[in-house]
Amino acid sequence: MAKKSKTLPIYVLSGPNLNLLGLREPEIYGRTTLAEIGEMVAKRAKSHGLSVVSRQSNHEGDLVDWVQEARTSSAGLIVNGGAYTHTSVALHDALRAVDLPVVEVHLSNPFAREEFRHHSRISPVAKGVIVGFGAQSYVLAVDALASLIESSTV
Ligand code: DQA
Repeated sequence: MAKKSKTLPIYVLSGPNLNLLGLREPEIYGRTTLAEIGEMVAKRAKSHGLSVVSRQSNHEGDLVDWVQEARTSSAGLIVNGGAYTHTSVALHDALRAVDLPVVEVHLSNPFAREEFRHHSRISPVAKGVIVGFGAQSYVLAVDALASLIESSTV
């Protein structure tokens, strides 16, 4: 893969119900809001010389549209598909068509939860997966993505 320009932003896409972070099941997802995560991510990305486009939607098609947009407008993607992680062939296909590094992220550890969360349709099309560290998962994902972009090994 060609080296990706650092002038392009990274995309951070969050799926359904993640707009409720801070309120929704805080014992599982923590009390940090998505807006606060956005600030943490932007700060960490800046330390790597990267800018960020952060988006959230409860609608599968929006996520697919943004992944398609990222193909030409971003240096790489961090994706928390929420529940679509476990169901969405459309998101899988969209990510599969992206010639960019993709890091899958989850606040909780889906493998320690209900069985229906143990399978991800995103993992097979991601370079790597970071799960279980709460809001910090997103920050770790920025570090991982920055190093992938730097080395362009995908
Ligand atoms: C989640 C895990 C998913 O199983 C769940 O449907 C979510 C959040 C996480 O970040 O831990 O909505 O993606």
